[in-house]
Amino acid sequence: MNYRHSFHAGNSADVVKHSLLIAIVRALQQKPGALTLIDTHAGCGLYDLGGEEARRTGESKKGVLRAIADPNPLLDDYCAAVRAVNTGVEPRFYPGSPRFLAQLLRPQDFLILNEKHPEDAYALRGAMRDTSAAVHQRDGYEFWLAMLPPRTARGVVVVDPPYEQADERARITATLAAAHRKWAHGVMVIWYPLKDRAMHVRWKAQLRKLGIRKFLVVEHWLYDSDQPDIYNGAGLFIVNPPYAFTQALPPLMDALRAALAPEGHRGEITADWLGG
Ligand SMILES: C[S@@+](CC[C@H](N)C(=O)[O-])C[C@H]1O[C@@H](n2cnc3c(N)ncnc32)[C@H](O)[C@@H]1O
Repeated sequence: MNYRHSFHAGNSADVVKHSLLIAIVRALQQKPGALTLIDTHAGCGLYDLGGEEARRTGESKKGVLRAIADPNPLLDDYCAAVRAVNTGVEPRFYPGSPRFLAQLLRPQDFLILNEKHPEDAYALRGAMRDTSAAVHQRDGYEFWLAMLPPRTARGVVVVDPPYEQADERARITATLAAAHRKWAHGVMVIWYPLKDRAMHVRWKAQLRKLGIRKFLVVEHWLYDSDQPDIYNGAGLFIVNPPYAFTQALPPLMDALRAALAPEGHRGEITADWLGG
């Protein structure tokens, strides 16, 4: 387990992932029924953008700092959630997915977090001390299945692994198949990096075989042509996306694309149903 999210917190992938997570939860909260929010690979919960790791990569400059400087009102919910953990105009701290989700909780909702790395799990417990979240330290895939079905009828599972194991995609495919059998109507959000287009085509072909009816694929390509061997962007698989979320998605995607486009590139964000 070498991956440390503190090097990458607030990058362009985090902006898209966290903006869409907010939109999904808010769409579900249009109904009063309680939600259970489950984060299988939660990270540290809160990151210091002035810390050594974040400064070494400077990734937040091309992510959260661009979003914060963008006046598009469609980014307001995301920017307000970042500002909520900061006092200054320029954000010093970046909320990870656990702190974004914690801000969305209503009294009837539950937040259950998991992080396997001992240091990050310790940091996560500290970052969530003032919230009602439960924090576990288990293997994320085992935890994903163990939590389903949750006590509330509706909810969201967020799966955000580091992709450092060769079998990460195969584990996701197998665990998603089992999770969908246990909780067919549950919303599940799986993040993935976009590097090699051919690998993603193959993975999506495998996932299509699961026969999950409502399976949305959102992909953010940063550059106008593929850059070999580097991070080209990121995607989210969203199983059972709420209707209000899919209706509001096109203008939000365009706002994110425009805010995050690198110099000289337009970038592209697409949303397609797996299997048409
Ligand atoms: C991309 S980061 C999570 C970022 C976080 N979801 C966010 O958006 O703020 C992935 C995390 O998964 C943790 N991790 C790696 N392998 C894991 C496993 N098998 N089970 C649970 N967590 C794991 C890493 O320590 C890391 O903190």
